[in-house]
Amino acid sequence: MLKFDVVVVGAGAAGLSCAAEAGQAGLHVLLLDHAERLAEKIRISGGGRCNFTNRDAGPGNYLSDNPAFCRSALARYPARDFIALLQKHGIGFHEKHKGQLFCDEGSERIIQMLVDECAAGQVERWQPCRVEQLDVIDGGFSLQTSRGLVEARRLVVATGGLSIPKIGATDWGLALARRFGHAIVEPRPALVPLTFDPATWAPFAELSGLSLPVKVSVGSGKARTSFLEDLLFTHRGLSGPAILQISSFWTPGQALEIDLAPEQDLAALLLAAKAQSKRKLGNELAALLPQRLAVTWLARSGLDAEKPMPDFKDKDLQALARQLHQWQLMPNGSEGWRKAEVMRGGVDTRELSSQTLQSKRQAGLHFIGEVVDVTGWLGGYNFQWAWASAAACARGI
Ligand code: FDA
Repeated sequence: MLKFDVVVVGAGAAGLSCAAEAGQAGLHVLLLDHAERLAEKIRISGGGRCNFTNRDAGPGNYLSDNPAFCRSALARYPARDFIALLQKHGIGFHEKHKGQLFCDEGSERIIQMLVDECAAGQVERWQPCRVEQLDVIDGGFSLQTSRGLVEARRLVVATGGLSIPKIGATDWGLALARRFGHAIVEPRPALVPLTFDPATWAPFAELSGLSLPVKVSVGSGKARTSFLEDLLFTHRGLSGPAILQISSFWTPGQALEIDLAPEQDLAALLLAAKAQSKRKLGNELAALLPQRLAVTWLARSGLDAEKPMPDFKDKDLQALARQLHQWQLMPNGSEGWRKAEVMRGGVDTRELSSQTLQSKRQAGLHFIGEVVDVTGWLGGYNFQWAWASAAACARGI
């Protein structure tokens, strides 16, 4: 039987960085993971380039039933700390869009950096390795694993969220939290494409592959949330950054409103065109929107695309503009865990210390990363939470 100061379960983004920092602080650390391959979600992230943080990450970029919880960890490990780590390793990066930082050499380089950091902390890594039984013992935990019995003073749960089960996601961390009496904020897929009932979607399915900048919104009044980003039509529904972002805020039964021309005043432009030209409506609209969208939209609107602009009543053109600026859609669901980038919900943070991520129900037990009810927007925020919660935990052990 081997004794460690800390056992970290889950060698993804949060587990690797927590193990490295705890090891480098002089603790004897075991990091174990049941998957064959290391850190698959880092590998596939950011289209293989890993959007490893967001320069502007702050508490306002996260969803949680307890929104203030993430404040402390994010303040003590801001994006610049992870940037400094890359610079220490001589890793190049670039900013793409809205503070999103990507690795020049690809995701693999980030994984190697974290492995090197673990080696610098003499972290022992067992992979693949399953936890078969876990017991609380005097002064810590005993774990029967597929590679033998271990004991540790501290147990860090870094098993991530439920998205993409085929690369290793499990509900082990959530089940363990429940076993110790923790409440779980209902997990649901987030940063996920949305789907529509096939009959409603049929006219738009032919637009699959079309992308355009939109403003997408859900909710009303103070609860209204909007994103100005690109939208992508798919065979079954909508995707692209705009939809992934809004999906985290969307609840089943809620309508989406999409402004398909957020930078333009379509009513004014169509009325001006009517006054100035005899061109057909189809041609005029195709000059304002992507042509495929203009054709599909007019085909289902009942307006004759071949009719010259002066033959339309102002109110018809105004109504057309209004429909394009306020397209109301009712998703029937999402693409689910198979396609979601992250899990919304998780271990309720009201029973965790915001300083150390330690359970208030079981001394020595910590939860970090995505298993915790802190979910970032699209754009590097989820990794930033993984690094920040890992650092807070490692420093608090
Ligand atoms: P993570 O999922 O990284 O690690 C959990 C680990 O626990 C895994 O290695 C798993 O095998 C292991 N595990 C699970 N159950 C276990 C068990 N029972 N026993 C042992 N081990 C177990 N975020 C971002 O900020 N920028 C980006 O570019 C992207 N891109 C992106 C693309 C795609 C396709 C996805 C699916 C996700 C992203 N994300 C992202 C989200 C990001 O990958 C995610 O939030 C972090 O990896 C979460 O880090 P964790 O360490 O908490 O979990």
